Amino acid sequence: MFSRVDHIGVAVEDLDAALALYERDFDMSLAHRETVDEQGVEAVLLDVGENHVELLAPLEPDSPVGRFLARRGPGMHHVAYQVTDIDATLDALRAGGLRLIDEQPRTGIRDSRVAFLHPASSGGVLTEIVQPAKGH
Ligand code: CO
Repeated sequence: MFSRVDHIGVAVEDLDAALALYERDFDMSLAHRETVDEQGVEAVLLDVGENHVELLAPLEPDSPVGRFLARRGPGMHHVAYQVTDIDATLDALRAGGLRLIDEQPRTGIRDSRVAFLHPASSGGVLTEIVQPAKGH
């Protein structure tokens, strides 16, 4: 069902401060930076081999990542698995009784199609599935 880990999502208070850690100290290359209005975040992708780390900073406190930071502080936010057909994958997960946050895919970073599964039915892990845009 899942072809690989696409990225690990990390919630941060300050994107530029976090980038200093990941680019300078961890020596990762910045692959992409984008404001994703639909998710209320400014996000970056850093390369780790064929996979990524996604840093997420909220555009405003009253947003999913903003509320996460207020509740839990900075840190691990979600894991994202890559799929080739997100519609079929969502149907299969729904049929399996998993609780979906997104009943339909929405637009994610780099024009990907994404959907989140509720941590209550995925072992306490906020889980994202990603169908990358062609060319990514
Ligand atoms: Co993500």
